[in-house]
Amino acid sequence: VNFASDNTSVAAPAILEAVIAANAAGPAMPYGNDDWTKRVVGQLRDLFECDLTAFPVATGTAANALALSVLMPPYGALFCHEVAHIQVDECGAPEFYTGGAKLVTLPGDDAKIDAATLDERLRNGWIGNVHNPQPKAVSITQITETGGLYSAGEIAAIADVAHRQHLKVHMDGARFANALAASNAAPADITWRAGVDVLSFGATKNGALAAEAVVFFDPKLAQDFAFRRKRGGHLFSKMRFVSAQLEAYLANDLWLANARHANAMLQRLKQGLASLPGVTVHGAAPANLMYVTLSNPMVDGLERAGFKFYREGGEGMIRLVAAFNTDPKHVDLFLETARRLSR
Ligand SMILES: Cc1ncc(COP(=O)(O)O)c(C=O)c1O
Repeated sequence: VNFASDNTSVAAPAILEAVIAANAAGPAMPYGNDDWTKRVVGQLRDLFECDLTAFPVATGTAANALALSVLMPPYGALFCHEVAHIQVDECGAPEFYTGGAKLVTLPGDDAKIDAATLDERLRNGWIGNVHNPQPKAVSITQITETGGLYSAGEIAAIADVAHRQHLKVHMDGARFANALAASNAAPADITWRAGVDVLSFGATKNGALAAEAVVFFDPKLAQDFAFRRKRGGHLFSKMRFVSAQLEAYLANDLWLANARHANAMLQRLKQGLASLPGVTVHGAAPANLMYVTLSNPMVDGLERAGFKFYREGGEGMIRLVAAFNTDPKHVDLFLETARRLSR
């Protein structure tokens, strides 16, 4: 039983079937000049209720690094949380793809940055000073690396501060589906209507084989993207197989059904664990990922019982993530084992 990450899960059957169907359809034009890719852009326009431009890629790191590459000059400063995936987990890809832009980290609970902190940093005299990297963008992660959720209001406040100083706003939405399922908002409300300029729209963690989309709410920003994606080696010749995944992911709200299930399973796990003595749940964890601290014997015992999860963040702290296909019986088994070990 695996709660280490949502990307330990298999692919959703409907997505695999869509890839097989795309294969059975025979030859198609390469490099994104295919019907699947065109349809996905149409689906995303409907979903986000605006005239966006979107580009499929195959990894979240590529989505983030390529998105940032068009927002950042090499001398730019990009603001993000100190545990942001782009800062900690992408092996310097954002710096590489932007030609050396500087990532400047901000603190904040639940891996969220806030408008006031950003505002304060932007008043530090860097703007226009030739000696300093020039603030050009801010990146927020939705849901955050610790499972936190930004409200539409929080995003709008960050975007207001950013836009006032001519910074662009990027959202790392590797788990955007889980964020949407955990909020009462429409997709537009927590993206462009709140001021997000570019979104890395994830699908892999929520049921795709390997598919993400870089979504530009202002198509003008996308002018150079196609060249950067090609130069970076992410223009797939058989793009239709990436796009077929995204088409099936978005069709019939599969993406939302998957995310709702993942979130429900994590909430079940959270409620069960929170009722046990000696267990601390960190942050609000309203979606499908949380950090909890257990006693060391509990962590050891759960591992011995065969449960997989990451030990992360310090003594007794573990990360638990539920996926679109997490079995409720496995959640209950985990809770029963934890309960036994807590006595
Ligand atoms: C917040 C966040 N962003 C982006 C990614 C995408 O990473 P990858 O390049 O592994 O698809 C991940 C995956 O762990 C993530 O958790």
